Amino acid sequence: MSVLIRNGRVVTAADSTIADVYIEGERVSLIGTSLDVDADVVLDATDRLVLPGAIDPHTHLDMPFGGTVTIDDVTSGQTAAAFGGTTCHIDFCIQGQGQTFAEALAVWHAKREGNAIIDNGFHIAVTDLEHGGTLEELATLPAQGVTSYKLFMAYKGVLQVDDETLFRTMEVAAETGALVMVHAENGDVIDVLVKEALAAGNTTPLYHALTRPPEIEGEATNRAIQLARIAGAPLYVVHVTCKDAVDAIKTAREKNWDVWGETCTQYFFTDITDLEEPDFGGAKYVFSPPVRDKANQPVLWSAVRDDVLSAISTDHCAFLLDGQKTLGRDDFSKIPNGAPGLEDRLRMIHHFGVNEGRISLNRMVELLATNPAKLFGLYPRKGTIAPGSDADIVIFDPNRMTTISAATQHSKSDYNLFEGTEVKGDVDTTLIRGTVVVQDGELRVEPGFGQFVKRARFMEQLV
Ligand code: URP
Ligand code: ZN
Ligand code: ZN
Repeated sequence: MSVLIRNGRVVTAADSTIADVYIEGERVSLIGTSLDVDADVVLDATDRLVLPGAIDPHTHLDMPFGGTVTIDDVTSGQTAAAFGGTTCHIDFCIQGQGQTFAEALAVWHAKREGNAIIDNGFHIAVTDLEHGGTLEELATLPAQGVTSYKLFMAYKGVLQVDDETLFRTMEVAAETGALVMVHAENGDVIDVLVKEALAAGNTTPLYHALTRPPEIEGEATNRAIQLARIAGAPLYVVHVTCKDAVDAIKTAREKNWDVWGETCTQYFFTDITDLEEPDFGGAKYVFSPPVRDKANQPVLWSAVRDDVLSAISTDHCAFLLDGQKTLGRDDFSKIPNGAPGLEDRLRMIHHFGVNEGRISLNRMVELLATNPAKLFGLYPRKGTIAPGSDADIVIFDPNRMTTISAATQHSKSDYNLFEGTEVKGDVDTTLIRGTVVVQDGELRVEPGFGQFVKRARFMEQLV
């Protein structure tokens, strides 16, 4: 099977040229102008952008959390991803209490087996080194293509690990070549503040943010950076939201320490006032770290532009407002933390980042595809358009107008954080490994098409 994508603007992290892209089988074989080749399928990309498929390094599909299970399973979450131009994601396989890592991975593999639409890998989330998984077992995971270890410094009594577990995992990562990822908030202090708020009768969604102030994120980010330095492990800080954490990462990067960070789409567009939406609407914006004061938004834009932050993910962790978020109607601490976003990242960042002049098109590609691929051991197989790379390609119409809405999204969630937002630029066609997956508003593959991707170990020199 061969595909010729004709006459589009091919944009990578480094280049932007009008060209044809010829795909043989699952891979790109030629890029050039007016290619004289026969193809089984010809896609006209005139006046379109031809982008590397976006890679989302931070998602939670079919995950038990907050007394319920995320509403998007692998098929619905990945369908949303494909419509939004995301061709590969890395989901968090969470080690249950008392589980070995092999047991946890078997559970997560079973969720995707026969159900996957796009390609995906797993990070392992280490929660318990005493009763289940061991450091020795952790060291074997990179050989299985699971090359990143995630630790939660928050969610006390649920996912949170202590500093010993964090540090010992970092030591293993330093030996095995894995990348350490942290959710950086001080969970012990949050726990005290939550108890104090509830005791004072403060139960509304706003208190989710007031009990998790930005200093708590800054402190944990700095602690993780310092511990990673001692252990000699590379560190990636997930979902950075505020100046306090950005400053810690900036300092580390200025010193050439092995530290990288991401933020997520929603932190550019939502803020603490959203938590006060009437009729419990604020619960839609309950995720962690929380929505911040609006003054942090330009800080985040500068950080992604200036390479202080290296990636933008979604942290897609979707729940229903009606029936799941409502678990916390009388107690904000019982609102499941998380929100949908897998379908919206590319068009939101394209419109508000590129169209509005905050970042270049090349930088957008770098943040959404190339850097995630490099950081998480997928590059150059994925994350770029080059001869030999997987033909994971998005044909993007930069002029198409779309109004974002839960009514038209593919996530099973009953709300969208960006409801009613008008964007210029949207996905026309998504290809994965040379197969058209989305075209003309239709999904063209069956569940089971997506493949598990084994990732290479972290290679600092690439990033
Ligand atoms: O609120 C969030 N972010 N939910 C998903 C779990 C996490 O912390 O990433
Ligand atoms: Zn988190
Ligand atoms: Zn997350």
